[in-house]
Amino acid sequence: MITLTVNGRSHRLDVEADTPLLYALRDDLALHGPKFGCGLSQCGACTVLVDGKAVRSCVTPVSRVAGRKVTTLEGLGSIDKPHPVQQAFIDEQAAQCGYCINGMVMTAAALLAATPNPSDAQIRQALANNLCRCGTHQRILGAVKRAAAAMRKGA
Ligand code: FES
Ligand code: FES
Repeated sequence: MITLTVNGRSHRLDVEADTPLLYALRDDLALHGPKFGCGLSQCGACTVLVDGKAVRSCVTPVSRVAGRKVTTLEGLGSIDKPHPVQQAFIDEQAAQCGYCINGMVMTAAALLAATPNPSDAQIRQALANNLCRCGTHQRILGAVKRAAAAMRKGA
């Protein structure tokens, strides 16, 4: 048994200690924001926040996050009250298939929490290892800049 705190709620899960966090989130908690892309820490589709830092849940054993605060895309904001990064991605229509977007949003949210006024280079650097096969990078960059501006204004 492992106790996980996800999106502010505590869960006791009957999983092995080395179960990937991604599997526990998707299969046991039905949180499908984080996606399975590569399973090898190469694409970023599975990104969640652990204590506010972007983490690749496909290669993170659940035992490593016991007692820590896990946030998924579902916990970042809601349909009624999206996180500014989520709202900016909608406003910029920064997705085609959308498969990479969980990772882009979660990584951008962690970036902006630590660096409220990032340069284009810092945004590119933060997202450099998040792969988008559809090629929406320019819109994603625009969305992160829009979110940063909104957050600085207190949106
Ligand atoms: S699925 Fe985790 S990095 Fe690709
Ligand atoms: S929008 Fe399709 S992979 Fe990024």
